[in-house]
Amino acid sequence: MSKRVRTAVFPAGGLGTRFLPATKVIPKEMLALVDKPIIQYGVEEAIAAGIEHIIFITGRGKGAMEDHFDISYELDATLERKGKRELLEVSRKISSMARISYVRQKEPMGLGHAVLCAKQLIGDEPFAVILPDDVIDAPTPCIGQMMKVYDELEGSVLATMTIEGPAISAYGVLAGAQDASNPRLYNCTGMVEKPKFEEAPSKQAIIGRYILTPGIFAILEKTGFGAGGELQLTDGILALLREEKVYGYTFEGKRFDAGDKFGMLQATVEFALKRPEFGERFRAFLQSVIA
Ligand code: UTP
Repeated sequence: MSKRVRTAVFPAGGLGTRFLPATKVIPKEMLALVDKPIIQYGVEEAIAAGIEHIIFITGRGKGAMEDHFDISYELDATLERKGKRELLEVSRKISSMARISYVRQKEPMGLGHAVLCAKQLIGDEPFAVILPDDVIDAPTPCIGQMMKVYDELEGSVLATMTIEGPAISAYGVLAGAQDASNPRLYNCTGMVEKPKFEEAPSKQAIIGRYILTPGIFAILEKTGFGAGGELQLTDGILALLREEKVYGYTFEGKRFDAGDKFGMLQATVEFALKRPEFGERFRAFLQSVIA
């Protein structure tokens, strides 16, 4: 097995119902956070971490994503003719960002099924999974932090964040002991989906970044479709745990759920405030609104 993580899978076959009506026609992954589709943040994170190959798992109505990462001849020609060099660079850069493959998930049959769709393209290598809804602002790309853990420990890694109080009930929660020498690292022994606060096995909520060993594919093929007719990645990882080491890693950075309306609003404010070209103006505007 190659030890290096070279490929990132972006499951984008879901329906995005939490963001209706915006997502009736526009793929959730193409909703703009400030001025970039949310999926582009994930792609930039992956590339900054050294990922060489990106696999998008798409579905019906997701064509705009393919067009976004492709060359737009008409747009580029128009920008060139009008002498808009900077915008031309922005447009061209997107289409040359990475080697991208597309696999179509015929029906949204769950995150586990979406990951399984990438099996033929990945083969016998460890790989990253990036859920595009989860936009992460971090000093070092979150997936890069996790790749480093994989390089050292050669086991699957789940990204976690610490959630205090009853809000933990909204997440999948990691069970397992904190490593004695690295407080960000957990030896994962289980996971509980949306537990009651009193029953949560830890404060570590699992979020949308994973490094998985290829052993997950054979397991997902054997895992049955659970509630709602979906093949859950969580069920696959729980089975993987019985065969291999799986780690939790509390990444450094801040995660936003941009697939959710409130999460998108929070991300918009924070990302806009960080933009040098209008951060100050936007801060003054926000202050005037809440005053
Ligand atoms: P979500 O449950 O957050 O996405 O799945 P969703 O189903 O699109 O959104 P809502 O809940 O209806 O608003 C997490 C990720 O897994 C992908 C989604 O596209 C999202 O990026 N996914 C989910 C698939 O690719 N295929 C599936 O069958 C299900």
